[in-house]
Amino acid sequence: MRVAVLGMGNVGSTLGRRWADAGHEITFGVREPAKKKAEKAAVTTIPGAVAGAEAVLLAVPWAAAPEVLKAAGDLAGKVLLDCTNPVTPELTHLTIGFATSAGEEVARMAPGARVVKVFNTNGVGNMADPDYGPLRATMLYAGDHDDANRVAARLAEEIGMEPVWLGPLKEARLLEPLAMTWILLARHRGLGRDFALNTVRRP
Ligand SMILES: NC(=O)c1ccc[n+]([C@@H]2O[C@H](COP(=O)([O-])OP(=O)(O)OC[C@H]3O[C@@H](n4cnc5c(N)ncnc54)[C@H](OP(=O)(O)O)[C@@H]3O)[C@@H](O)[C@H]2O)c1
Repeated sequence: MRVAVLGMGNVGSTLGRRWADAGHEITFGVREPAKKKAEKAAVTTIPGAVAGAEAVLLAVPWAAAPEVLKAAGDLAGKVLLDCTNPVTPELTHLTIGFATSAGEEVARMAPGARVVKVFNTNGVGNMADPDYGPLRATMLYAGDHDDANRVAARLAEEIGMEPVWLGPLKEARLLEPLAMTWILLARHRGLGRDFALNTVRRP
């Protein structure tokens, strides 16, 4: 699949690398392409990356989402994977919630895109290596469109995560606080980054 990854920070570069290893055609879209390089992937402008992509990952800070989506242009018909978390600079609280979510706001800013909230409830270390012995890190996702949900699930599965659908996109209102919970435990309550949420089931 042709995937545009907008943002080449921790999450963008990790998922882009892992998806390229899984055989996908990855193009990073960044604001200064001349300054970036990637193995097994192209690097270009944000609109250039989006142009030929079937799926687009938005992997920039929440505050940059409006500017990056505007630069991306028309995303109608594309699968848009949103991993942003609207966190305060100290990473202690969310800045929006209850009545909306970053996921829903992304959908509002990208009319016609089939948005899935995904890859936001695990630290990037779990995206690089989701293997916990007999268990896999669970990747919860929420979206309104079955075909886009299937793409999100496949992209999670292919990097070794256990995809679990939570429901329609409005459930991003639950996934973003869940991400905040993971961040609090990891960064402020001493668990560190080597833990993941998993759905334990009876045999
Ligand atoms: N880190 C995690 O473990 C984690 C886990 C789940 C979800 N998330 C979410 O994923 C998103 C990305 O996180 P990250 O840790 O990858 O962040 P990061 O390492 O700080 O990278 C952010 C990327 O966004 C780009 N960017 C920032 N402002 C921009 C702008 N105005 N226009 C264009 N590009 C811009 C940066 O580009 P330059 O290189 O040009 O500065 C950089 O490539 C965030 O919303 C975060 O909440 C993070």
